[in-house]
This record gives sequence, structure tokens and C-alpha cells, in this order.
Amino acid sequence: MEFHFSDNDLNGVSIIVPTYQEAGNIEQLVTRLTKAMKALTPNFEIIIVDDNSADGSEEIVITLAKQDLPVSILIRTNERGLSSAVLRGFEKAKYNTLVCMDADLSHAPEDVPRLAALIMQDEADFVLGSRYVKGGKIAGKWGLFRYLNSWVATALAYPLVRLRDPMSGFFAIRQSLLPKAEPFNPIGYKIALEVAVKAKPERMQEIPIHFGLREAGESKLSLKEQLFYLQHLKRLYQHRWKTLSQFFLFCLVGTTGLVVDMGTMFVGYGLIGLSFRYMRFLAFLLAATSNYQLNRMITFEVKKGQHWLKQWVGFLAASAIGFVGNWLVSVTLYDKTIFFHDHYLLAVIAGVMAGVVLNFFLSKFAVFESRFFK
Ligand code: GDD
Ligand code: MN
Repeated sequence: MEFHFSDNDLNGVSIIVPTYQEAGNIEQLVTRLTKAMKALTPNFEIIIVDDNSADGSEEIVITLAKQDLPVSILIRTNERGLSSAVLRGFEKAKYNTLVCMDADLSHAPEDVPRLAALIMQDEADFVLGSRYVKGGKIAGKWGLFRYLNSWVATALAYPLVRLRDPMSGFFAIRQSLLPKAEPFNPIGYKIALEVAVKAKPERMQEIPIHFGLREAGESKLSLKEQLFYLQHLKRLYQHRWKTLSQFFLFCLVGTTGLVVDMGTMFVGYGLIGLSFRYMRFLAFLLAATSNYQLNRMITFEVKKGQHWLKQWVGFLAASAIGFVGNWLVSVTLYDKTIFFHDHYLLAVIAGVMAGVVLNFFLSKFAVFESRFFK
């Protein structure tokens, strides 16, 4: 997905509204928005970016436009998804202040001038409509699960950008930041997070909003979107701290390898009674292979089918060398110092850590990202 933004120097506000099956909300949205915006500036436009809903949305917008309401609709047939819809709208926008909001009236049209004004008056470069700052509110009752879910999702994003409500889909941004932003690669729902991380606005403000109930139709947020969110987070972390986040995933994968190793031993030796020394070998091979496959897919994202066998051998070698490093470090510490002689488990931990680090860098540079395998 590529996006192209040119500098807009026209003073005014472009409001982008992604829609999918929102025919029942569009008219109220456009009329309330127009009324609220006129009090701020005569220069504004509303761009609906619809993913081919075919529910009458297009006809509604055409009728409204004929009544001199500043609204237009962009219908996409070859792409889908909320985040990319918003960015397509940003591409098409003509004014220097951009706003993104939901169509279902859970974001109050009357709040838009407050967001936009802070950019226009040059008090901020990015303004987030937030449920979690003082004065913010959510209509309706949330169950414990939804609450927890939202809290965890927010906490996971905090190291990337210091916002209290990065999940919000209600924000304004200075248009001139977009052409200079790093390439957008959005998946899923979290467009504010993507924009805040990639466009790097210097002055960010969060202002309280009352997050209302959806007026008509139903929510499109599904479990699939939540999995996309994890993938999106991974991308953003790797964008910011590539090697560190790879190392984190590498360790996570290593932990699953420990489970495979122990499980294999339990079945082969514990239940079936096969030879312990051969089972150690088999269990290592299985655990290393499962680690290999997971690291390939998740940690280093190698494309399917590329050099599977060659890289597998390379990874086993890296793991073996990692083990030698582990052995050398723990044995040296144990032999040469009284402290580690007395605290031999600490020597083991030090060995394991050295081995993991060695294994990681070998896997990264000599196997998964090596030119030899490209
Ligand atoms: N073009 C397009 N394509 N629009 C979409 C798509 C899509 O695939 N999916 C959803 N939309 C539009 C909806 O029509 C609506 O205007 C807006 O995006 C938000 O979708 P909802 O279905 O109302 O989602 P929600 O209410 O569950 O999620 C909202 O709140 C979340 C926080 O609780 C959104 O604001 C999210 O961004 C936010 O994370
Ligand atoms: Mn909604």
C-alpha cells in the first residue's frame, strides 16, 4: 500500500469519515457537522470514504451535496479496511487541518471544532479525542472483559507513544506532517496510533470527549481486528526498536521451545520409556525445529518457502554454537571464581543468557538476515 501526500497550504479543515454500511447515520452526521463547523470556519469539507457498502450511502451523499452541503464520497472497490480508508481520504483532502472520525455518531460532530481549532490556532500538531483524560466519558456499561481488553491494548501501546487513548479513532492532525512522515503501513483499526508513531507530531494534545453509543447499524470491530492489532503493534515496535523487539520475540519463542523439549521428554522417556540419552537428542531437534519455524514466521518474517532447508541447518548450527557459548561461560565462571562455584545456579543462568544472546545474533545475521540466503 502506498500513499502520496502533497503539501496543502489551503487554510481550513478536511474531515475524513471512513464508512462501511453506515447509510443510516450519514445524513445526521453531515448536517450536524456542517452546523458545528460553520461556527469555526467557512472553509471545510467532509470526505466520506466508503468501501463499496452498496447500501444507499452514495445516493444519500449525492443528495446532500446537491443541497449545498460540503460533502463528497470516495468509493473504494479494490481496497478494504478502516485505516487505509482514512489515509486515502487524507490523500484527497484539500485543507491543511485534517480530522478523522467515526460515522456512527459515537464521536460527537459538535466536538470536531474543538479538535480542529487547536491545530488551526497553532497550539498543537496532533489532537486526540480521548475517553481517558479528565472529563472524558464512555456511554453505556462495559463488562469486565471489555474493560480489561481495552486496558491491556492501551498499555501495550504506551511505550510507542505517550497517549492515554491511542485506540481512539477521533483525532486531528496538521496536514504538513504527512508528506514528511515515514511510510504508513496500517493494518486494522488503530489509525490514530499509526499516525502518531509515523508522523511524529511534536506537540500532541489529548482532549476529553464523551464517547457516545452508536446511533444506527452495528460495529465492525471483530476478533480478527484484535489479532490485527497485535500484528500492527509488532510492526510498530519493530519499526522503532527493530533488534530489541526481535530479541524479545526470540526469547518468547525460546520459551515455547522449552515446553516442546519437556513435552517430548515426558512422552518419549516418561511415558514410553525410550532411552534418555537418545530422547535428549530427539527433543532438542524437535524443540529447535519448532523454534526455527516460529522465528522464521514471527521474529524474522521470512517469506514462505524461501531456503527452508538451508536455513534450518543454519539455525541448528547457530543453536549448537549458542550451546557451546553457554557451556563455556557457565563452566568458566564455575571453575574460575569462588562466588560462582558457591552459587552454581547463577553460573547456569549466566551461561544460558550468553548462549541465548549468541544464538540470537548468529540466527539474525548469519541465518535469517544473511545475504547468503537471500
Ligand atoms: N471504509 C471503511 N472500511 N470504513 C470502515 C471499515 C472498513 O473496512 N470498518 C469500519 N469502518 C468505519 C465504520 O463505518 C465507522 O464509521 C468507523 O469505521 C468505526 O467503526 P465501528 O464499527 O463503529 O467500530 P467501533 O465503534 O467498534 O470502534 C470505534 O471505537 C474504537 C474504540 O472503542 C473506532 O473509533 C475505533 O477506531 C476505536 O478503536
Ligand atoms: Mn462505533
